[in-house]
Amino acid sequence: MTRRRQIYEGKAKILYEGPEPGTIVQYFKDDATAGNGAKKGTITGKGVLNNRISEYLMTQIEDIGIPTHFVRRLNMREQLVKAVEIIPLEIVVRNVAAGSIVKRLGLEEGLRLPRPLVEYYLKNDDLNDPLVLEDYITAFNWATVQEMDEIVTYTLRINDFLSGLLLGVGIKLIDFKLEFGRFWKDDESHIVLADEISPDNCRFWDIESGEKLDKDRFRRDLGKVEEAYQEVARRLKIIPESN
Ligand code: C5P
Repeated sequence: MTRRRQIYEGKAKILYEGPEPGTIVQYFKDDATAGNGAKKGTITGKGVLNNRISEYLMTQIEDIGIPTHFVRRLNMREQLVKAVEIIPLEIVVRNVAAGSIVKRLGLEEGLRLPRPLVEYYLKNDDLNDPLVLEDYITAFNWATVQEMDEIVTYTLRINDFLSGLLLGVGIKLIDFKLEFGRFWKDDESHIVLADEISPDNCRFWDIESGEKLDKDRFRRDLGKVEEAYQEVARRLKIIPESN
């Protein structure tokens, strides 16, 4: 068997050259980091669960007409995705105050925000992913005005759709982070949803108890980290009830 060429290793995933041109294999690791790598650890089984959770959510999103990079799951830890040119932005949507907005604005954690807030962060580890303005994005050509219109439209639709889907399984979608890419077809570029959607990049709270079912359990040393990821997968019927 020929060894695949590694393209990139990130904090939670490794990207390999895919079997056909224009494809990439996304491998999900159990490694977890917080505070831009300041805290490191392992969440046993996280890669397997995130591969499945992200497959499920990306497929559902594709079904409502939003293009994604997802092609198919290959095995327990790998999925085939379309090769895209990643737009160097993290798009965060917030429905309820938690995390960095609580610190930045002195809000109370759990405060329902008046409407979903969309924020942009530059993907740059050396600068700690700074919050940026839309004016910076277009001025520095990280994305065009048209691309940003499409990204924000997709992002708000994904927020509405996922909020409803998760509410149905007793989970409140507090906030999440998305990444988008450019997919080239016939010399035209199209915006597609990329990366992953999992408890690593979303905040999920149990609707009844408010219990955190996401990576905050690792970030804040709350314990029962693996169990939280399993619970999300169970509620989405990705793993059986008895697990
Ligand atoms: O830390 P903060 O409150 O800004 O995070 C907002 C949302 O974005 C959270 O759901 C968090 O998991 C996600 N996020 C991420 N990757 C980052 C920063 C935030 O997935 N580098």
